Amino acid sequence: MLECDHVSVAFGGLVAVDDVSFAVAEGEIVGLIGPNGAGKTTLFNVVTGFLRATSGRVRFRGDAIGGERPDRITVRGIARTFQNIRLFREMSALENVVIGRHIRTRATLLEAVLAAPAHRLEEARVRLRARELLDLVGLGPRAHEPAGSLPYGDQRRLEIARALATEPRLLLLDEPAAGMNPAETRALTALIGSLRRDAGLTIL
Ligand SMILES: Nc1ncnc2c1ncn2[C@@H]1O[C@H](COP(=O)(O)OP(=O)(O)OP(=O)(O)O)[C@@H](O)[C@H]1O
Ligand SMILES: [Mg+2]
Repeated sequence: MLECDHVSVAFGGLVAVDDVSFAVAEGEIVGLIGPNGAGKTTLFNVVTGFLRATSGRVRFRGDAIGGERPDRITVRGIARTFQNIRLFREMSALENVVIGRHIRTRATLLEAVLAAPAHRLEEARVRLRARELLDLVGLGPRAHEPAGSLPYGDQRRLEIARALATEPRLLLLDEPAAGMNPAETRALTALIGSLRRDAGLTIL
Protein backbone atom coordinates (compact mmCIF):
# COMPACT_ATOMS: atom_id res chain seq x y z
CA MET A 1 0.00 0.00 0.00
CA LEU A 2 2.79 2.41 0.98
CA GLU A 3 6.32 2.14 -0.35
CA CYS A 4 9.23 4.36 0.59
CA ASP A 5 12.15 3.83 -1.68
CA HIS A 6 15.57 5.23 -0.70
CA VAL A 7 14.01 8.32 0.88
CA SER A 8 16.40 10.96 2.22
CA VAL A 9 15.67 14.38 3.68
CA ALA A 10 18.38 16.93 4.37
CA PHE A 11 17.89 20.21 6.20
CA GLY A 12 20.93 22.13 5.03
CA GLY A 13 23.83 19.97 6.17
CA LEU A 14 21.75 17.84 8.55
CA VAL A 15 20.56 14.56 7.08
CA ALA A 16 17.33 13.91 9.02
CA VAL A 17 16.25 10.86 7.00
CA ASP A 18 19.03 8.83 5.46
CA ASP A 19 18.17 6.42 2.63
CA VAL A 20 15.08 4.82 4.18
CA SER A 21 13.28 2.06 2.32
CA PHE A 22 10.31 0.08 3.60
CA ALA A 23 6.86 -1.03 2.56
CA VAL A 24 3.56 -1.32 4.37
CA ALA A 25 1.13 -3.87 2.97
CA GLU A 26 -2.63 -3.40 3.06
CA GLY A 27 -4.12 -4.46 6.39
CA GLU A 28 -0.83 -4.35 8.28
CA ILE A 29 0.00 -2.52 11.47
CA VAL A 30 3.63 -1.46 11.15
CA GLY A 31 5.67 0.19 13.89
CA LEU A 32 8.37 2.69 12.99
CA ILE A 33 10.84 2.94 15.85
CA GLY A 34 13.94 4.97 16.49
CA PRO A 35 15.46 7.22 19.13
CA ASN A 36 14.74 10.93 19.46
CA GLY A 37 15.75 12.75 16.31
CA ALA A 38 15.94 9.57 14.23
CA GLY A 39 13.70 11.15 11.59
CA LYS A 40 10.33 9.45 12.22
CA THR A 41 8.27 12.66 12.14
CA THR A 42 10.24 13.95 9.18
CA LEU A 43 9.41 10.77 7.27
CA PHE A 44 5.72 11.20 8.17
CA ASN A 45 5.94 14.77 6.88
CA VAL A 46 7.25 13.48 3.57
CA VAL A 47 4.55 10.81 3.21
CA THR A 48 1.79 13.32 3.99
CA GLY A 49 3.14 16.06 1.73
CA PHE A 50 4.26 18.51 4.42
CA LEU A 51 7.85 18.11 3.24
CA ARG A 52 9.45 17.12 -0.02
CA ALA A 53 12.11 14.42 0.10
CA THR A 54 15.57 15.49 -0.99
CA SER A 55 15.81 12.20 -2.86
CA GLY A 56 13.96 8.91 -3.13
CA ARG A 57 10.39 7.97 -3.97
CA VAL A 58 7.14 7.53 -2.10
CA ARG A 59 4.35 5.48 -3.64
CA PHE A 60 0.82 4.97 -2.37
CA ARG A 61 -1.27 2.24 -3.96
CA GLY A 62 1.12 2.25 -6.88
CA ASP A 63 1.11 6.00 -7.54
CA ALA A 64 4.11 8.26 -6.98
CA ILE A 65 2.92 10.89 -4.48
CA GLY A 66 6.18 12.69 -3.71
CA GLY A 67 5.73 16.45 -4.00
CA GLU A 68 1.93 16.42 -3.90
CA ARG A 69 0.13 18.85 -1.60
CA PRO A 70 -1.10 17.56 1.76
CA ASP A 71 -4.77 18.02 0.86
CA ARG A 72 -4.31 16.00 -2.35
CA ILE A 73 -2.64 13.22 -0.39
CA THR A 74 -5.51 13.27 2.10
CA VAL A 75 -7.97 12.81 -0.74
CA ARG A 76 -5.93 9.81 -1.89
CA GLY A 77 -6.60 8.18 1.48
CA ILE A 78 -3.75 8.96 3.86
CA ALA A 79 -4.45 10.60 7.22
CA ARG A 80 -2.21 11.39 10.16
CA THR A 81 -2.08 12.54 13.72
CA PHE A 82 0.53 14.94 15.02
CA GLN A 83 3.16 14.32 17.67
CA ASN A 84 2.35 17.75 19.10
CA ILE A 85 -1.40 17.69 19.46
CA ARG A 86 -3.01 20.11 17.03
CA LEU A 87 -6.61 20.59 18.05
CA PHE A 88 -8.79 23.68 17.97
CA ARG A 89 -8.83 23.97 21.74
CA GLU A 90 -11.83 26.28 22.08
CA MET A 91 -13.99 24.22 19.75
CA SER A 92 -15.93 21.18 20.93
CA ALA A 93 -14.68 17.67 20.29
CA LEU A 94 -17.45 17.26 17.72
CA GLU A 95 -16.56 20.49 15.90
CA ASN A 96 -12.93 19.41 15.74
CA VAL A 97 -13.92 16.25 13.89
CA VAL A 98 -16.32 18.13 11.58
CA ILE A 99 -13.83 20.85 10.66
CA GLY A 100 -11.13 18.20 10.40
CA ARG A 101 -13.01 16.66 7.54
CA HIS A 102 -13.15 19.95 5.66
CA ILE A 103 -9.70 21.25 6.36
CA ARG A 104 -7.98 18.03 5.50
CA THR A 105 -9.56 17.88 2.07
CA ARG A 106 -9.15 21.57 1.24
CA ALA A 107 -6.01 23.59 0.90
CA THR A 108 -6.72 26.32 3.45
CA LEU A 109 -8.67 26.98 6.61
CA LEU A 110 -10.57 29.73 4.79
CA GLU A 111 -11.73 27.32 2.09
CA ALA A 112 -12.74 24.84 4.77
CA VAL A 113 -14.77 27.39 6.71
CA LEU A 114 -16.42 28.76 3.56
CA ALA A 115 -17.34 25.26 2.46
CA ALA A 116 -19.03 24.36 5.72
CA PRO A 117 -22.36 26.23 5.38
CA ALA A 118 -22.48 25.86 1.60
CA HIS A 119 -23.91 22.37 1.61
CA ARG A 120 -26.31 21.95 4.48
CA LEU A 121 -27.38 18.44 3.66
CA GLU A 122 -23.78 17.33 3.32
CA GLU A 123 -23.08 19.08 6.61
CA ALA A 124 -25.75 17.09 8.45
CA ARG A 125 -24.22 13.90 7.09
CA VAL A 126 -20.74 15.02 8.16
CA ARG A 127 -21.95 15.72 11.70
CA LEU A 128 -23.60 12.32 11.92
CA ARG A 129 -20.38 10.66 10.81
CA ALA A 130 -18.42 12.78 13.29
CA ARG A 131 -20.68 11.48 16.10
CA GLU A 132 -20.01 7.91 14.98
CA LEU A 133 -16.27 8.51 14.99
CA LEU A 134 -16.36 10.02 18.47
CA ASP A 135 -18.26 6.93 19.65
CA LEU A 136 -15.67 4.73 17.95
CA VAL A 137 -12.79 6.30 19.89
CA GLY A 138 -14.82 6.34 23.11
CA LEU A 139 -15.46 10.08 23.21
CA GLY A 140 -19.19 10.06 22.45
CA PRO A 141 -20.13 11.36 25.93
CA ARG A 142 -17.67 14.25 25.59
CA ALA A 143 -18.77 15.41 22.14
CA HIS A 144 -19.71 18.89 23.32
CA GLU A 145 -16.79 19.59 25.63
CA PRO A 146 -14.07 21.98 24.45
CA ALA A 147 -11.17 19.95 23.06
CA GLY A 148 -8.69 21.85 25.21
CA SER A 149 -10.42 20.77 28.43
CA LEU A 150 -10.17 17.05 27.69
CA PRO A 151 -7.59 14.90 29.49
CA TYR A 152 -4.44 14.31 27.50
CA GLY A 153 -5.25 10.73 26.50
CA ASP A 154 -8.68 11.84 25.24
CA GLN A 155 -7.08 14.60 23.16
CA ARG A 156 -4.93 11.99 21.45
CA ARG A 157 -8.03 9.88 20.74
CA LEU A 158 -9.78 12.98 19.41
CA GLU A 159 -6.88 13.54 17.02
CA ILE A 160 -7.42 10.00 15.75
CA ALA A 161 -11.16 10.66 15.29
CA ARG A 162 -10.35 13.82 13.36
CA ALA A 163 -7.93 11.92 11.13
CA LEU A 164 -10.57 9.24 10.54
CA ALA A 165 -13.05 11.91 9.42
CA THR A 166 -11.27 12.05 6.08
CA GLU A 167 -12.09 8.33 5.58
CA PRO A 168 -8.47 7.22 5.09
CA ARG A 169 -7.17 3.84 3.97
CA LEU A 170 -3.80 4.43 5.63
CA LEU A 171 -3.48 6.06 9.04
CA LEU A 172 -0.15 7.45 10.28
CA LEU A 173 0.00 7.83 14.06
CA ASP A 174 2.94 9.90 15.28
CA GLU A 175 3.82 8.83 18.84
CA PRO A 176 0.20 7.91 19.60
CA ALA A 177 0.93 6.73 23.15
CA ALA A 178 3.25 9.58 24.14
CA GLY A 179 2.34 10.86 27.58
CA MET A 180 -0.30 8.20 28.17
CA ASN A 181 -0.55 6.17 31.35
CA PRO A 182 -0.59 2.34 31.13
CA ALA A 183 -4.41 2.14 31.16
CA GLU A 184 -4.70 4.77 28.40
CA THR A 185 -2.02 2.95 26.40
CA ARG A 186 -3.91 -0.35 26.68
CA ALA A 187 -7.12 1.33 25.53
CA LEU A 188 -5.25 2.90 22.62
CA THR A 189 -3.74 -0.44 21.62
CA ALA A 190 -7.22 -1.97 21.58
CA LEU A 191 -8.51 0.93 19.49
CA ILE A 192 -5.70 0.56 16.94
CA GLY A 193 -6.43 -3.17 16.70
CA SER A 194 -10.12 -2.52 16.10
CA LEU A 195 -9.38 0.09 13.44
CA ARG A 196 -7.60 -2.57 11.47
CA ARG A 197 -10.07 -5.36 12.22
CA ASP A 198 -13.36 -3.48 11.93
CA ALA A 199 -12.55 -0.50 9.71
CA GLY A 200 -10.02 -2.30 7.49
CA LEU A 201 -7.38 0.35 8.01
CA THR A 202 -3.66 0.01 7.45
CA ILE A 203 -1.68 1.67 10.22
CA LEU A 204 1.87 2.98 10.46
N1 LIG B 1 12.21 21.68 9.79
C1 LIG B 1 13.40 21.28 10.24
N2 LIG B 1 14.52 22.00 10.02
C2 LIG B 1 15.72 21.58 10.45
N3 LIG B 1 15.93 20.42 11.12
C3 LIG B 1 14.86 19.67 11.38
C4 LIG B 1 13.53 20.04 10.96
N4 LIG B 1 12.66 19.06 11.35
C5 LIG B 1 13.41 18.14 11.98
N5 LIG B 1 14.72 18.49 12.00
C6 LIG B 1 15.82 17.68 12.55
O1 LIG B 1 15.78 16.44 11.88
C7 LIG B 1 16.10 15.38 12.77
C8 LIG B 1 14.98 14.39 12.80
O2 LIG B 1 13.87 14.94 13.51
P1 LIG B 1 12.47 14.22 13.65
O3 LIG B 1 11.59 15.14 14.39
O4 LIG B 1 12.02 13.73 12.33
O5 LIG B 1 12.85 12.95 14.55
P2 LIG B 1 11.90 11.95 15.34
O6 LIG B 1 12.39 10.57 15.03
O7 LIG B 1 10.47 12.24 15.01
O8 LIG B 1 12.22 12.31 16.84
P3 LIG B 1 11.30 12.26 18.15
O9 LIG B 1 11.34 10.84 18.64
O10 LIG B 1 11.95 13.22 19.08
O11 LIG B 1 9.92 12.69 17.74
C9 LIG B 1 16.39 16.02 14.11
O12 LIG B 1 17.79 16.22 14.19
C10 LIG B 1 15.67 17.35 14.02
O13 LIG B 1 16.26 18.32 14.84
MG1 LIG C 1 8.85 12.72 16.09
